[in-house]
Amino acid sequence: MAGSCRFNHHFLTSLLITIAITTLVKSVHTTTTNTEFVKSSCNFTQYQRLCVASLSTQASLIQTSPKLMAHAALNITLASAKATSVMMVRLSRTSPLKPREASAMRDCVEELGDTLEELRKSIGEMGQLSGSNYELYMSDVQTWVSAALTDVTTCTDGFEGDDMNGKVKVLVRRRILVITQLTSNALALINHFASIHG
Ligand SMILES: *[C@@H]1O[C@H](CO)[C@@H](O)[C@H](O)[C@H]1NC(C)=O
Ligand SMILES: *[C@@H]1O[C@H](CO)[C@@H](O)[C@H](O)[C@H]1NC(C)=O
Repeated sequence: MAGSCRFNHHFLTSLLITIAITTLVKSVHTTTTNTEFVKSSCNFTQYQRLCVASLSTQASLIQTSPKLMAHAALNITLASAKATSVMMVRLSRTSPLKPREASAMRDCVEELGDTLEELRKSIGEMGQLSGSNYELYMSDVQTWVSAALTDVTTCTDGFEGDDMNGKVKVLVRRRILVITQLTSNALALINHFASIHG
């Protein structure tokens, strides 16, 4: 009786250890697979390092879905554009800007507003893609994200010229450049998803 009890105890312990190890190995394997998927998908983008850096943290959400990859890229682009817009509005209030700088900031914030709107609409339709609306929604998303890319690109045009405030100009251009690259990456991932969906 005592022997079988000890046997059971040993058996149970080793069984539990085996299960724990199997689960751990499986989850490490899944994590590796998900991360590898993000990396290989980023191969379709122009700014690969930014792609991997911005989307690796979403790997467990994306798993191995090209659709979720494109969706997550849009989400991250929207969040970044939103943060930059907030930063620029704050900067215009707190920095002593020359009239030309103030007007460039205003134009840029307005163009960023269009970018945000186009990204929001794209995310909305991306989340509702289905068999029956696929063609229409996909073409909407491609059009809007292309427009978002144009709008954010024109944003820095007003900051050309040596008479602009050096610090503000550098700060804004750097942030806008990141949004431009994130948007370009999102568009590439959307086009890739569209191309494999057929
Ligand atoms: C990316 O593409 C290159 C060829 O263009 C290939 O050699 C490389 O293995 C790819 N990387 C991944 C992570 O798929
Ligand atoms: C995108 O953002 C929405 C809203 O915040 C969220 O519900 C969704 O899970 C996100 N999707 C991806 C793939 O990141």
